[in-house]
Amino acid sequence: MNKLAIMGAMQEEIEPLLEYFENIKITEYADNKYYEANLDGLDVVIAYSKIGKVFASLTASTMIEKFGCDTLLFSGVAGAVNNNLKIGDLVIADKLCQHDLDIVAFGHPYGYVPGGNVFIDTSKKIREVAKKVALDNNIKVLEGTIATGDQFVNSVERKNFILNTFKADALEMEGASVAVVCNALNVPFFILRSISDSADMDANFDFDEFLKSSAKISADYVIKIAKSL
Ligand code: ADE
Repeated sequence: MNKLAIMGAMQEEIEPLLEYFENIKITEYADNKYYEANLDGLDVVIAYSKIGKVFASLTASTMIEKFGCDTLLFSGVAGAVNNNLKIGDLVIADKLCQHDLDIVAFGHPYGYVPGGNVFIDTSKKIREVAKKVALDNNIKVLEGTIATGDQFVNSVERKNFILNTFKADALEMEGASVAVVCNALNVPFFILRSISDSADMDANFDFDEFLKSSAKISADYVIKIAKSL
């Protein structure tokens, strides 16, 4: 690995990351800010994309193509789909899908378009490092499926659709688009989320209350992983 990208979607998701760094160089590009810094000798680029799949794809592509990152970690928050997940719990994606990708009218399954796959796997190697870090630091993590869509989900009906269709454990708004970019560009990637809400009718209230604390739980863990790569 030569240069590591660490991205989030929202400012609140990267603020606790930036606290680990001194001497940060900020570059403005494509209507966004990229923070270049060093972590124990490793060159790191940090950015938040803004919410949603399109912005996340742009940022992931930029970090790889313009800044030369050859490994990508994502840190942020998610809504729980798996009922065992509580606020603050950590989820490592072993695979991701787009729950709002829908050409079912043409006989295709949800989440599929020709030339793509319903699920994209994350880097097994990085997951193994992450699980060892968790074990060594007594951090509890669930490895599972993350479903991504351009919707903030706050309905049990939609959540159950995502559970039943994709067997997802958590949902958010960026991960699978980052997966598409990294997969196409052969960049090993890792998507980490800490639960901020249960994607139910209280989700918007819980999200506002727990965004910062859950983002910090994810950021603290992702920094430990970055130091172990
Ligand atoms: N990220 C965190 N909570 C979410 C939710 N309920 N829906 C979509 N993205 C989220």
